[in-house]
Amino acid sequence: MPTAAPDTQDIALPQEAAQTTTPAKDAVRIKDLHKSFGTLEVLKGVSLTARQGDVVAIIGGSGSGKSTMLRCINFLETPTSGKIIIDGEEVETRADGTPANRRQIERIRTRLAMVFQSFNLWTHRTLLENVIEVPVHVLKIPRSEAIAQARVLLARVGLADKEDSFPAFLSGGQQQRAAIARALAVDPSVMLFDEPTSALDPELVGEVLTVIRDLASEGRTMLLVTHEMRFAREVADHVVYLYQGRIEEQGPPAEVFGNPKSERLQQFLKSVS
Ligand SMILES: Nc1ncnc2c1ncn2[C@@H]1O[C@H](COP(=O)(O)OP(=O)(O)OP(=O)(O)O)[C@@H](O)[C@H]1O
Ligand SMILES: [Mg+2]
Repeated sequence: MPTAAPDTQDIALPQEAAQTTTPAKDAVRIKDLHKSFGTLEVLKGVSLTARQGDVVAIIGGSGSGKSTMLRCINFLETPTSGKIIIDGEEVETRADGTPANRRQIERIRTRLAMVFQSFNLWTHRTLLENVIEVPVHVLKIPRSEAIAQARVLLARVGLADKEDSFPAFLSGGQQQRAAIARALAVDPSVMLFDEPTSALDPELVGEVLTVIRDLASEGRTMLLVTHEMRFAREVADHVVYLYQGRIEEQGPPAEVFGNPKSERLQQFLKSVS
């Protein structure tokens, strides 16, 4: 693992200048992250920091490495090299980059929640059972308490009347809102969204974005991979444009969308508008 990483790509976020005397802590810090699949180098040294309460939107063309980056943060993939620091805790790794401390990974995983494009709900369980699964079996929260909390969360995403339904009987928008309720059930420090609306019919996109917008406004830390550029512009504190495994450009949404410097980003924005 490299010992030093270029900090030049780190994100300096507006909250740093907040009036509070205690500056927001780093929720996620990635340093010089590399990931190869065989001979294909997908991430070529990505560094970024999201402070608590930040919404970081990650945009970029297909194959640029957006999902791989999120999957490395969540340990669904093992980085080839680089550092991942969650809530100030650095993930311990062996020389080959694999996690060295299973207990640590399990603990850190409970602070992260990922929402996938394809929902990934447990199909043979009701919505309520989906939401209480991790709190009861991993976090060891008493079942009655987990159920009470799950009902609050399902109500919050507009699914109070669906707790006994199975995912197959719900629309894509409802399933994704349930997946968000499930993600919230661990009270995560950081939420990772990987194109949460890409699999939805256009008329269902809005209801999911509304839920994500609410979470952003209540100060949830989020890394959000999205193709919804207008939404990214609206909710993000910071936007990162990935091009072939590197951060090509980043900045506040008004800059990245309103005044893109890199030609590649200009092209990309044209292609998605
Ligand atoms: N498990 C894997 N094995 C081999 N190659 C992989 C694997 N996962 C991803 N890749 C490759 O890594 C590259 C980046 O993939 P990734 O899924 O991160 O892109 P992306 O930016 O999320 O794209 P999209 O917008 O299409 O979701 C692609 O070339 C992909 O084929
Ligand atoms: Mg992807």
